[in-house]
Amino acid sequence: MKSRQLRRTLIAIVMAFALVLAWNALPASAQEKSKPKMKSLYERLGGTYAIATVVDDFIERLLVNDILNANPAIKEARNRVPKAGLKYRVTSMVCQATGGPEKYAGRSMKESHKHLNITEREWQALADDFKKTLDKFNVPEKEQQELFAIVNSTKKDIVVSSAMK
Ligand code: HEM
Repeated sequence: MKSRQLRRTLIAIVMAFALVLAWNALPASAQEKSKPKMKSLYERLGGTYAIATVVDDFIERLLVNDILNANPAIKEARNRVPKAGLKYRVTSMVCQATGGPEKYAGRSMKESHKHLNITEREWQALADDFKKTLDKFNVPEKEQQELFAIVNSTKKDIVVSSAMK
């Protein structure tokens, strides 16, 4: 009785070992195919054109946001920097950050915002406009949260003053 149990255990171990060997012998591509593939945020948002459409709407809102335009440094930059270029840069940045093939070639967030003296209140104004844009395009809650996590990760480099003025 005992030796039968032992034999069964041994057979089970040998089979498990054989399965691991067989799995490792499969080409990597076959292993990948058998795993459920999670789509990137970039793909779930609909790729470059969908992201560019969202960025376009978002930046148009920011350009007429009274809270932001009350800051003379932001207003000056708005009048100086062509909005098509800004939209292009922000689009390529979002595409890259969400897993797309685009490569962001602009300055760092610290470098490009340090002269703007952006406050906590102005940051909040941007977040409110972002939410309005995402809702307008019916971006699902999960994807909105992931996008906000990306945007919020830049806050420490962009907001220089915690004042709510
Ligand atoms: C209240 C918050 C923000 C304000 C008022 C703001 C405003 C501006 C302005 C005026 C510029 C042009 C600056 C210049 O060239 O002199 C700029 C550049 C840029 N911003 Fe923002 N921004 C804000 C937050 C963000 C966030 C959250 C992101 C991305 C997650 C972002 C991405 C960019 C990019 C990619 C550029 C272009 C940098 C380059 O061309 O090198 N900004 N922003």
